[in-house]
Amino acid sequence: EKGGYDYFMLKEIAEQPKAVADTLLGRIDASGSLTLDEVRIPGQALREVDKVVIVACGTAFHAGMIAKYAIEHWTRIPCEVELASEFRYRDPILDPQTLVIAISQSGETMDTLMALRHAREQGSRVLAICNTNGSTIPRESDAVLYTHAGPEVAVASTKAFLTQLVACYLVALYLGQVRGTKWGDEIHAVVRDLAKISEQVERVLETMEPVRELARSLAAKDTVLFLGRHVGYPVALEGALKLKELAYMHAEGFAAGELKHGPIALIEDDLPVVVVVPSARGRSVLHDKIVSNIQEIRARGARTIVIAEEGDETVVPYADHLIRIPATPTLLQPLVATVPLQVFACELATARGNEVDQPRNLAKSVTVE
Ligand code: F6R
Repeated sequence: EKGGYDYFMLKEIAEQPKAVADTLLGRIDASGSLTLDEVRIPGQALREVDKVVIVACGTAFHAGMIAKYAIEHWTRIPCEVELASEFRYRDPILDPQTLVIAISQSGETMDTLMALRHAREQGSRVLAICNTNGSTIPRESDAVLYTHAGPEVAVASTKAFLTQLVACYLVALYLGQVRGTKWGDEIHAVVRDLAKISEQVERVLETMEPVRELARSLAAKDTVLFLGRHVGYPVALEGALKLKELAYMHAEGFAAGELKHGPIALIEDDLPVVVVVPSARGRSVLHDKIVSNIQEIRARGARTIVIAEEGDETVVPYADHLIRIPATPTLLQPLVATVPLQVFACELATARGNEVDQPRNLAKSVTVE
């Protein structure tokens, strides 16, 4: 049932192009408009939404962090994202104009379930983004947008994460479409770019051998740091989470701009630091800033592992290892940038002799608080 792969995780990483395509299937019509009729929240209610609050745990929380950038940029609706386990205990401000989005692969995560129950008690509408048909979270929500990743068996989430991102982009674009947004043209362009992602993920997967080799060479290290900016910041957090849970290494993700406020003190000779470089087009300020961050850490001895899009030559002089990803619009980059980090963590775990599909102390679905 592992389809010829040694681990479910490898199989599920390889299934990502299909998972992404399946999650888009039937949700975009020939004119490039979104047809999310399955989200049975009336248009009027969506037009009245004045705040979006996203709740989730772990990897799904990272998808939510990325969704915030997309929702605020495309819809101009203020969006908060919060760990489900923190949300309920701080008396959050919720009312019927608040749209709460609960993201969960399993649909059974107790913290997320308790957060959505709390939101509904306050009169907010809850939209679930979920991978498991008929599970508790979608059953208790007002509406659900299913991700079509297929069953995810490995404890570490991979294909579910990519499809959660796709679902979040669809919701953001749909909100923009229903409410009307000044980004009308951009939305059509993004829909076209989303349609290309599956094939781009496929291309990333074809070029992973150097990443595996690099991972094996780092098996004796204690620490790996991850840096990113903008949507690359949650990608850095996700890369670090994968490494913690699979390789049992000290791994931390930082917003690159925070380096000088503390973390740069951690940099020492030959410390591996993975840097997610934002798309070179459009956001040149962000891009230039991260190139200086790479220079800063390298000057202090870091071994830089740079993830940058094809054709970005500015990073070449500062990259000890360069991992290429296809060019995408900035907001969509996490869909391709996360993939090498999954492969990296999986290979490091294997090299360290760890059980990839069943990391110690973890369960696939966390049904206790
Ligand atoms: C990490 C991982 C966990 C889950 C988290 C939420 O690889 O799998 O962090 O993302 O436990 O689970 P769901 O999405 O089922 O609510």
